[in-house]
Amino acid sequence: MDSIIVTGNGPLNGSIPIAGAKNACLTLMPATLLSDEPLTLTNAPRLSDIKTMSLLLQSLGAEVTSLQAGKVLALSSHNLTSSHADYEIVRKMRASNLVLGPLLARTGHAEVSLPGGCAIGARPMDLHIFGLEKLGAEIELREGYLHAKAPKGLKGAVIELAFASVGATENILMASTLAKGTTVIKNAAREPEIVDLADCLRGMGAQIEGDGTSTITIQGVDRLGGATHPVVTDRIELGTYMLAPAICGGEVLLEGGRLDLVRSFVEKLDAAGIGVTETPQGLVVKNRGDRVKAVDVTTEPFPGFPTDLQAQMMALLCTADGTSVLEEKIFENRFMHAPELTRMGAQIEVHGGTATVTGVERLKGAPVMATDLRASVSLILAGLAAEGETIVNRVYHLDRGYERVEEKLGNVGAKIERVKGQ
Ligand code: EPZ
Repeated sequence: MDSIIVTGNGPLNGSIPIAGAKNACLTLMPATLLSDEPLTLTNAPRLSDIKTMSLLLQSLGAEVTSLQAGKVLALSSHNLTSSHADYEIVRKMRASNLVLGPLLARTGHAEVSLPGGCAIGARPMDLHIFGLEKLGAEIELREGYLHAKAPKGLKGAVIELAFASVGATENILMASTLAKGTTVIKNAAREPEIVDLADCLRGMGAQIEGDGTSTITIQGVDRLGGATHPVVTDRIELGTYMLAPAICGGEVLLEGGRLDLVRSFVEKLDAAGIGVTETPQGLVVKNRGDRVKAVDVTTEPFPGFPTDLQAQMMALLCTADGTSVLEEKIFENRFMHAPELTRMGAQIEVHGGTATVTGVERLKGAPVMATDLRASVSLILAGLAAEGETIVNRVYHLDRGYERVEEKLGNVGAKIERVKGQ
């Protein structure tokens, strides 16, 4: 397994290109299952999770061709040969469950393994099942697989979600585009990735209104066509790299960064004393080297502070002047980066879903262990500001969500290298 070695090396300067959003691409790719015409995705990120989704779709009979070194994905599910999403793939990547809604809508049946828990929580699918059953699907759990069928097709319905689940909203939204009649999703997730999916589905001929608000209305159509769609900018990669100059000083342009995607995050950076400027090329983050101020953070569904930036923000607050309280309201176990940051001299107390961070002047480099995708990148950020060398092990977690992290940070002056594992 590869490791990444980061050595604290002072301020960063230059620009970092922001890629297309992993969490948009992982729901846009299964949308190909809704149509027998080609779907082309541009601005696709080059990540291992995208390769995993490609393998899953190919196992169903879809064609997925990666062009322009992975920046363009040409998909077609003209000849579907299977509706079975195997545990071996789904257990590695929960987003595999996003084939459930499209398969049901297109073929009338699906057999999708439950993902099982992951490092950050139980990750059940009860809201996905609730919504699809409201559309008329019959879903049974047998031997770890969801066996779903809709022999007479799906029928529009009013669906009120108990929680604004991103994945459940995406599965229901995709399935409802081919349901007979009108579907209304209430308490729908409002994330930009939902809006991006709706934009792509409209390009394929779907009739959708209200995406980005809590109420989405869909008029079902008989069939969907093909489309070419650019994947929206990755707001989590954007926020992650904005924290690099914030934590170790300097001035960095995040190319393609959009303020509207990270407004609540930028409000917290501003409160911590970090300047963010919007320019035609993207967002500029500048820290003249002042110590950041402590701020309290609570994670919420969009447009609140994103849970996927909580670990990275904690790394920054470990060096703040004062005490910060971070509340993780979305997942039940998303502080696994805390003990690793403590190894670097951070002062963090975790009680249930609350972490209290008392900032220290300087973190100290140490060998640390990556546990999940966003925790691993928070350790890289901490290493940028720490004194000495930090070795982050098990970086395969990192490669799921960040393309060429050592190149992107190295290009702005970070001392960072990847060491090939045995
Ligand atoms: C998506 O996961 C993202 N993944 C996650 O990003 C992100 O953290 C999450 O949304 C929240 O923003 C992708 O888009 C591929 P949820 P998802 O359904 O859809 C509970 C990353 O680091 N829940 O909004 O699985 C669930 O257990 C990843 O890129 C139910 O109880 O998130 C969790 O506590 C991590 N029942 C909460 O809701 C359900 O049926 C949020 O889950 C579904 C979810």
